[in-house]
Amino acid sequence: MRIILSPSTQEAADTVAMMVLDKIESHPQSVLGLATGRTMEPVYKSMVDTMTKKPMHLEKCFFFMLDEYLGLPENHASSFKSYIEFHLVKPLNLHHDQFAFPPVHTSNLELAAENYERCLREAGGVDLQLLGIGTNGHIGFNEPGSLGDSRTRRILLTEETRLANKTQFKEGEMPREALSMGIGSILDAKSLIMLASGRSKADAIKYLMNHHDDPKCPATYLKSHPHFTLVLDPDAASKINLNI
Ligand code: GLP
Repeated sequence: MRIILSPSTQEAADTVAMMVLDKIESHPQSVLGLATGRTMEPVYKSMVDTMTKKPMHLEKCFFFMLDEYLGLPENHASSFKSYIEFHLVKPLNLHHDQFAFPPVHTSNLELAAENYERCLREAGGVDLQLLGIGTNGHIGFNEPGSLGDSRTRRILLTEETRLANKTQFKEGEMPREALSMGIGSILDAKSLIMLASGRSKADAIKYLMNHHDDPKCPATYLKSHPHFTLVLDPDAASKINLNI
């Protein structure tokens, strides 16, 4: 695991954005796995700002979204599909056919999840997967208890996760379930970058630093990946001792 300790939240986001853009520049046909959440907003903004100054060709890239809520109407303003439309698709003029979204609007979720896994394989796998982390150590929506070999599937959200995300929804609208790439699906990516920012992530980061392959904190599975980079802002790193 490589750890990058950034002097500010903005610089942490800029570092991640730069790593993504470097990947695309060196490998224009990159397959990128995208995460959502407040943590990623400055990353996408930084990418958009950089590309406004220095346009890049993204038309050969393909993007897989990590997860999506279940039970929301299509194009709901708080869906992750709407999130990425707003933060990346529209500002960068990307095409919808460059994206794969977890297929949540179907009656057979099990089959749809298998198809998503097949799409990932047929695309040759994800080259670079972006990840945030939940306050309880979840990645994507792999809640505590998820196993290291789990694949794309339906997941019941914990109360902690529902509480953390309920500000994005009107009263009573917060979904109870999601479809998420599994930990095994995430680990198949050739490289992983996790960004954690803010004090609310400090405990999860401390736990991550001290444990391995622990289903209580799904992010700990990432440490076995040969190309895992963890980027931290000062608050997220405030409970760990890096001795640097
Ligand atoms: C969300 C997403 C994750 C994200 C995490 C943290 O629920 N499923 O992909 O990394 O929780 O979100 P935030 O960055 O808003 O704290």
